Amino acid sequence: MQIAEAMPVGAAVWRNPGAPGSVEEVLLDPAGPSEVRVRVAAAGVCHSDLHQADGHLGGELFPTVLGHEGAGIVEAVGTDVAGLEPGQPVAFCFIAACAECRRCLEGRAALCERNSRASFEGTMLDGTTRVRLADGKPARSFLGIGCFAERCVVPARATVPLPPGLPLWQAALVGCAVVTGFGAVRNAAGVRAGESACVVGLGGVGLQVLAAARLAGAEPLVAVDRTPAKLELALARGATHAVDAGAADAARQIRKLTGGGADHAFEVVGRAETIRLAWDSLRAGGTAVVVGLAPVGVEAAVPAIGFISEKSLRGCFYGSGEPRREIPELARLAADGEIDVAGSVSHLAGLDGIEDAFGRMRRGEGSRTVIVLDRELAGVSP
Ligand code: APR
Ligand code: ZN
Repeated sequence: MQIAEAMPVGAAVWRNPGAPGSVEEVLLDPAGPSEVRVRVAAAGVCHSDLHQADGHLGGELFPTVLGHEGAGIVEAVGTDVAGLEPGQPVAFCFIAACAECRRCLEGRAALCERNSRASFEGTMLDGTTRVRLADGKPARSFLGIGCFAERCVVPARATVPLPPGLPLWQAALVGCAVVTGFGAVRNAAGVRAGESACVVGLGGVGLQVLAAARLAGAEPLVAVDRTPAKLELALARGATHAVDAGAADAARQIRKLTGGGADHAFEVVGRAETIRLAWDSLRAGGTAVVVGLAPVGVEAAVPAIGFISEKSLRGCFYGSGEPRREIPELARLAADGEIDVAGSVSHLAGLDGIEDAFGRMRRGEGSRTVIVLDRELAGVSP
């Protein structure tokens, strides 16, 4: 039987948009009937966490425990949960798709009509929260996960069992950066061998887009960023060329390198000017896939004459596919060494290292920071 008592856990909490977070002891309520409690091993710091901390996502989303890209071990399961037992290693999947609505049945689970709302509002599927601050105030869990914490309660469908063989500090990245990056290439763009591609923005997510495009056989494969160190890392990870996004003629350089324009341009930053750069890099008939999340209110403009060249501009959220099916598959590829996750991680830190990671992100330094809650559980070698 489950002990139905709130438990104290250490968590990183943000109270106001634009203000730094703090690590504090919060109370975690027991898992509801269709929920599980997970002991978090490791969690990646994604730019979406920073967007939320900065108040870019709108709404009344504070206070909130951030973190949505992570992995851990199931510790307790709700009374109605089937197929998950304590001890099971899982990755988080921040859209707890219902598997029954029209979008889910179409294979577009990231757009689940029933359960996306709770994710965006940072609540469980019934609209309530499981975290209380020391003063009793309820806190949201970012994207329904809130894994910058020693433990978190999430909908059972927001966890995906992991195959053996991948250390959890690497598995942490599969539930956001990897599934998003690979989905952009495989589901949204459908890149085929020999097609040309460029990737604008080479952070934690962009590096996975690049890896997926390389595995799909994209050639030439042009890496584009404003930071020279990112370009070097991308060249070492299989990009055939690199272009400085800050160059006045960046789009022309990309078009030249791809013999008249790229078949696929991936935008993985979330800014109007990089969306425009992706568009300007395309050949006639090419498609720009926008993966980056832009702050609420940002508008993007492209010269509409490009539509007569049959250029397309499309969005891509959470890999545009079925994350619950794809996460275990990608984790297996990573365990087999087909996907290099470790090489996309630049820093490991504790819960108190998130603001530093945000600082690096703002400056364009480093690639991914992984917050390690438990070194042994996360499989970090000493
Ligand atoms: N031009 C080109 N590259 C840029 C620009 C710019 N104007 N501004 C930032 N970048 C680069 C940074 O140098 C960095 O390499 O974009 C990259 C962003 O990487 P991260 O901050 O690590 O962000 P990441 O977690 O990869 O997320 C990227 O996808 O899921 C969304 O919310 C997420 O919008 C974010 C985007
Ligand atoms: Zn993310």
